[in-house]
Amino acid sequence: EKDIFILGIESSCDDTSASVLQNGVLLSNIIAGQKVHEAYGGVVPELASRAHQQNIVPVVDQAIKQAGLKNEDITAIAFTRGPGLLGSLLVGTSFAKGFSLATGAPMIEINHLQAHVLAHFIQEKDTPYDPPKFPFLCLLVSGGNSQIILVKDYLDMEVIGQTIDDAAGEAFDKCAKVMGLPYPGGPFVDKLAKEGNPDAFKFSKPRIQNFDYSFSGLKTSFLYFLRDQLKENENFIEERKADLCASLQKTIIDILLDKLIKAAKETGINEITVAGGVSANSGLRNALMETAAKRRWKMHIPKFAFTTDNAAMIAMTGHFKYLKGEFIGMDAVPFARM
Ligand code: KG4
Repeated sequence: EKDIFILGIESSCDDTSASVLQNGVLLSNIIAGQKVHEAYGGVVPELASRAHQQNIVPVVDQAIKQAGLKNEDITAIAFTRGPGLLGSLLVGTSFAKGFSLATGAPMIEINHLQAHVLAHFIQEKDTPYDPPKFPFLCLLVSGGNSQIILVKDYLDMEVIGQTIDDAAGEAFDKCAKVMGLPYPGGPFVDKLAKEGNPDAFKFSKPRIQNFDYSFSGLKTSFLYFLRDQLKENENFIEERKADLCASLQKTIIDILLDKLIKAAKETGINEITVAGGVSANSGLRNALMETAAKRRWKMHIPKFAFTTDNAAMIAMTGHFKYLKGEFIGMDAVPFARM
């Protein structure tokens, strides 16, 4: 049997990434981040596209070289078609077309969110491999999404719950911004929360139906609480920052777990996974492990490098689509919403 070498390309937001898999086993995963957005307190789409344009050739080149391959060795090229920033997606999509024309390798379009879920199946050499078993639930929490996904097979998934407004990562980042923390604030809240009392303050939790999420009420409640406190004491944020972070983080985790537990109960599934940038949160990881022990879930928490945006998950999804012969032609266009 011939080896299958899939090249993955990710450019949906502010990371340019390329990765090569050999029969589903990781050979390389190169990521170029973009520092330029830090000064703006958020990702600036136009600057992101320009940085992708600069990074894409060297990043792909490095990924193929590190895999010990040449361009002609690539069996198929998988690229993120969406969702994401249109200008950023265009860079990856156009590059994939150029690569495909030059080498004859067919193209495979990838849904970025589906790839986050399938990151659990990336195999690494000399590393134990214990992927989730179908059917499983995936809590997908990132800067742009908060979803509970019922995964029936590699390419058969159903979103059973999702945010009706902000994502969990946005709640972290927006509340962090109000406290004067740098962007993205999630990791800073995580760090400060370790020193604070999670029960110091109470913020409002949404009361919505089924498995859906909502975080905009929490954001407003946090904002109003600070505004009132600052009237009494202008140093309130500085004095109580750790407690504020710990209480905010606890509220977000409670909201996330509440619906996840409900979904596990109602579907009868106890094989649980987590994906997306917010799954790096240490409080969330601890809470998931505790809940798993209590409820006899089999919990899968991926390596940090595979939870944030990366091309290895794009290549992994590409591998599964390759096996099913799901290719796409030169008329492929990116979608901001998918
Ligand atoms: O999946 P991801 O890398 O990309 C986007 O969706 O853009 O997620 C980024 C999000 C940001 O909102 C960031 O604040 C959050 O993940 N994040 C965290 C932590 N690390 C990253 N949130 C809380 N605690 C963390 N340790």
